Amino acid sequence: MRIFLIGFMGCGKSTLGRKLATKLGYELIDLDHHLEKIAGSSITAYFAEHGEDSFRRLESETLKTMHYPDNCVISTGGGTPCFYDNMSWMNENGTTVYIQMNAFSLAKRLENGITKRPLLSGLSEEELIRFIAGKLEERNPYYQQAAHVLNGISLTADLVIAALEPEC
Ligand code: S3P
Repeated sequence: MRIFLIGFMGCGKSTLGRKLATKLGYELIDLDHHLEKIAGSSITAYFAEHGEDSFRRLESETLKTMHYPDNCVISTGGGTPCFYDNMSWMNENGTTVYIQMNAFSLAKRLENGITKRPLLSGLSEEELIRFIAGKLEERNPYYQQAAHVLNGISLTADLVIAALEPEC
């Protein structure tokens, strides 16, 4: 089975993805890392050189064309579900899990990672929480299409497995 982890930047997709893949004995695919390999540059550099529209095209194309082993956990980018028909594609081609977290908790986690994320670069602490709250509202209709919506605070690999039990 393919498990797509979705959610806002900083919600823990990569960390949880790693733990989940280890527990299940599944392969882990990190879409952002995969994109960086294909693009031959960091996401930050890609955004700076080609802009967001080009990044979203590459992201969608990569999501839909890369090779997936039978059993894998895919940690996606925060914006992946919200462009083109990526969300319905993921729902049709695997099980989607939304790691839900509020803007305040996300801001706390993201404060130190701002430079690694082009959409957040240059934001002050106050602007950061406002930006996250606005983006969350905009992205929520996509995130809520996930097959499983789980509270990201204190979420563990075991809790995800329990939610998916009948399927994996
Ligand atoms: C983005 C999230 C990032 C990365 C890119 C855009 C977004 O991934 O794909 O910087 O639009 O939320 P993470 O959620 O893994 O940080």
